[in-house]
Amino acid sequence: MPKGFFLTFEGLDGSGKSTQSRLLVGWLEASGEHVRVTRQPGGTRIGDRIRSLLLDSKTESPAPMAELGLMFADRAQALAEIILPALNAGSIVVCDRFTDSTEAYQGGGRQLGSEIVLRLHETMCGGLMPDLTVLLLPDFAASLVRARRRNERMATDGTDEGRFEREGQDFYRRVFDKYREIAAREPVRVVVIDGDGSLEEVHRRIVSVVIECLRAFRAE
Ligand code: TYD
Repeated sequence: MPKGFFLTFEGLDGSGKSTQSRLLVGWLEASGEHVRVTRQPGGTRIGDRIRSLLLDSKTESPAPMAELGLMFADRAQALAEIILPALNAGSIVVCDRFTDSTEAYQGGGRQLGSEIVLRLHETMCGGLMPDLTVLLLPDFAASLVRARRRNERMATDGTDEGRFEREGQDFYRRVFDKYREIAAREPVRVVVIDGDGSLEEVHRRIVSVVIECLRAFRAE
């Protein structure tokens, strides 16, 4: 059994996940923790190639099942190459997105349903679940405004990872609803940060959740 602590960040595009994850990692390292940071899709050489295939806006209409398979292929590689070795070495692994993203985006957004995602997770990831998931989910209207702002930025800075960002409001509504469903189903693992506080406030809330969770984890 892995002895490290596995923490994931989740949320809609533009939720501030990546910024908050960076702040938390800085805080953990300053507290003397050994942290391995990664993200999905990507993070390994194979995964980065899968990432560009998945996110490139020039990738035309992959079948939802093909998209689902690629997400899990990426994840299997990340588990083998990064996540499991780091957990076995006792590190804290901080991963930007994991299987909850697949359940929300492919299960919810693409309407493949939760069951197939959870079944694939069992088979391809040995059912490994995060010890803690921080879900940044302000209300739907605020989430959409942030996602749009980010899309406008991406359109001008030349980043070509916009395939998901081009999805419409109905898609994002389904992703949002699925995230809420996951949080309701797993209230202990998934901590929802739903306020619209400042960067600093949200960071402080995340730190206090992490301190409490790590303490309980290490006392086990
Ligand atoms: P990411 O680069 O993390 O973007 P963001 O900064 O918005 O979080 O993720 C890229 C996109 O990939 C994002 O729109 C969500 C999507 N995605 C899925 O659809 N399924 C998955 O399993 C994962 C990991 C990501």
